[in-house]
Amino acid sequence: PAPGWIVETDVVIVGSGVAGLTTALRIAGAGLPGAVPTGLRVMVVTKDVLAAGSTRWAQGGIAAALGPDDTPADHLADTLVAGVGLCERDAVQVLVDEGPAAVRELVQLGTRFDLSGNGELSLTREGGHHRDRIAHAGGDATGAEIERALVAAVLASDAIEVIEHALVLDLLPTSAGVGGVTLHVMGEGQLDGVGAVRARAVVLATGGMGQIYAATTNPSVSTGDGVAAALRAGAVVRDLEFVQFHPTVLWLGGGAAGQQPLVSEAVRGEGAFLVDDAGRRFMQGQHELADLAPRDVVAKAILREMAETGAAHVWLDARHFGAEKWRVRFPTILATLNSLGIDPVAELIPVAPACHYASGGIGTDLHGRASVTGLYACGEAACTGVHGANRLASNSLLEGLVFGRRIADDVIATLSPGDPLVDLGVDVRSAGICSSTIRPLLQREMSADAGVLRDAPGLVRASATLAKLSAQRSRDPRTESWEATNLLTVATALVVAATRRQETRGSHWREDHPGADDERWLGHLDLSLGPDGM
Ligand code: SIN
Repeated sequence: PAPGWIVETDVVIVGSGVAGLTTALRIAGAGLPGAVPTGLRVMVVTKDVLAAGSTRWAQGGIAAALGPDDTPADHLADTLVAGVGLCERDAVQVLVDEGPAAVRELVQLGTRFDLSGNGELSLTREGGHHRDRIAHAGGDATGAEIERALVAAVLASDAIEVIEHALVLDLLPTSAGVGGVTLHVMGEGQLDGVGAVRARAVVLATGGMGQIYAATTNPSVSTGDGVAAALRAGAVVRDLEFVQFHPTVLWLGGGAAGQQPLVSEAVRGEGAFLVDDAGRRFMQGQHELADLAPRDVVAKAILREMAETGAAHVWLDARHFGAEKWRVRFPTILATLNSLGIDPVAELIPVAPACHYASGGIGTDLHGRASVTGLYACGEAACTGVHGANRLASNSLLEGLVFGRRIADDVIATLSPGDPLVDLGVDVRSAGICSSTIRPLLQREMSADAGVLRDAPGLVRASATLAKLSAQRSRDPRTESWEATNLLTVATALVVAATRRQETRGSHWREDHPGADDERWLGHLDLSLGPDGM
């Protein structure tokens, strides 16, 4: 059917975390002191309110070689080691070289990072880093502060239009690529219901897909909408099998589901350590960095420990911080713990791994360009090649910043203000929407058979269950059913990728193929959706 309304812009950006808003500000030429408007019209569309995505939940911080004893080369080396052979070196080089300036730009934009006694950025350490290079804000509220500054700058700009409560449905095809998006908008005055935005470029910055699992640090909006839309539009998605499980997510009890509270790696960076029920420091002797080993190493060690002892979780010991350090350095985590009756000064903190970050996503080049003309992807929705098989802690906010700037520069170099839009027919998908009731069933299945530990029989079970769920259609297309459809699309792609990669590498752990197989698998796994499936 035809959409209820159609609006036009030059560039439509889907998603409003660090990646989407950085891209929007730079394309518009707004935000920084002295910035010159480019004349390009920018529209940011976002599923909830502007600040609701994953960025605001980021605790630990943003990594960049900002310290006097640090260099981009050191940051590059740590990133490549964490990525276990699958990082694209060129992309990592871009990330570490352009990272420090991008973080300083955030400061110019008004982000209030924590400072040390000499007025320089205070830097801490996280897993896999050999230097103190994590800038943080509000102690452990880095993402919230960055998002606050970006949202304020976007709202202050006349050149950026914002549509909230707007779920992306599909990309609009043109003869050459894509030329806009269809949206389902909930109650935005004239823009209500299903409509379309025609644009000369589309940037997907829709964040992650953590909601495919029962327990995740991701908010409920992280349903893989951009990756699913890109797949439906024929774009290549890359390395979806690499889903990172954060080692220290607060354990809320066996059946806990949905978004779970994170206990930042920075807590270990400041000296906390993991212990088992008997108080043994089980990370010692497992890796030269012990409790600060890369994330996949620590998550696997915890899961091994839990499997061997039958425990439902392990413990994090940060009692020695004392009340003042907890209050000043980790106020967000402290408030969460206290609200649950846990006093980390007197007690151990129960933690277990939970889904945290999709290292793969829509495949892009060094300018954020996807495989379909007119389409860009940025942030967690993208696979730029910087994370490889396992993202280094606190490289994700940085990736959104650095590659958001690069996308903007490419768009500015390609489009001129006032150029006409390609004329295209606008149609809205009407078939193939799943029932929203499949969501918890899908989450349970993915956690059981395609989570941290994977093997061929489990992946066959997952694939069969997803196929069965796909038959449960919705007769009432609404946000929840479109989200369920997207979850099914990305979960299915992930299971295909996890089945194909018959090795264990980084965050992809195949129990039936326990070693890395460089001869067969030292490369990316690309998927695209054709008429006969993936
Ligand atoms: C954390 O604070 O532990 C999260 C950092 C990250 O995911 O990069």
